Amino acid sequence: MTVNKLPALLDKMWADYIVINPLAKKIHDLLVSEGETIQNDHIALRTFRHPRVGVDVLAKPFLKAGYVYKSDYHFPEKKLYAKHYEHSDRALPKIFISELKLEELSSTLRATVSSLIDQMPAELEQRFDFSSIGRPWNLTTSTYQELHEESDYAAWVAAFGYQPNHFTVFINRLKKYSDILVLNEFLKARGVKLNSSGGEVKGSRDVYLEQSSTLANNFEVSLVDGRLTIPACYYEFAKRYPLPSGELYHGFVAASADKIFESTSRGQ
Ligand code: NI
Repeated sequence: MTVNKLPALLDKMWADYIVINPLAKKIHDLLVSEGETIQNDHIALRTFRHPRVGVDVLAKPFLKAGYVYKSDYHFPEKKLYAKHYEHSDRALPKIFISELKLEELSSTLRATVSSLIDQMPAELEQRFDFSSIGRPWNLTTSTYQELHEESDYAAWVAAFGYQPNHFTVFINRLKKYSDILVLNEFLKARGVKLNSSGGEVKGSRDVYLEQSSTLANNFEVSLVDGRLTIPACYYEFAKRYPLPSGELYHGFVAASADKIFESTSRGQ
């Protein structure tokens, strides 16, 4: 993949994302109509820890396009591991990729996930646009339910496959709404429901990052044997603060991301 294929991939990822999460498009357009210019802080992808589809496999096209690995994160309770990547062009979103540590889940779940991945044509995962390929396997409603009983995250990846879980508005680039509390009030006044797990604002100036997010909308997916309406995607907002060195913090805060992962859990 060459660098100039990257904008098309990012555009396609946004286009796919707003089909599944029309509220993100609505909020984006609402902010634009307020005179704001939207820059994405990061795009989050989800996958399974598996030789064919692990974090490092999903990261490959981005590395070829000039991204570099920056840091990794552990979410022991959620059995997740993640890495984030940055581009030297600061206008480009960071890429945050998490994977479910299958070795910590039941042998039944592992076997089910392996059977999904085994359905993928050889070398599909080598495509430069793999991160926007959608669901590359057939899934039944009973398999979805079975996965969901053990892991929300596994069920999400099984149902949606490879496409963004969320985009994130970089609050620092906003003019009128550059304060996360002001932005949250603006959104709530327009009927947007925010994820309040752990408080509406996750993180603080002390950890150089404040984040909030919408709750995941429900979306109807077509599976092999029927349709299911399931939690889909959320839209996130991130405000970054300078480190003591004066440089803006570009990393993530595991404790905050831990709560934000719950935006796609049922029953909220
Ligand atoms: Ni995020």
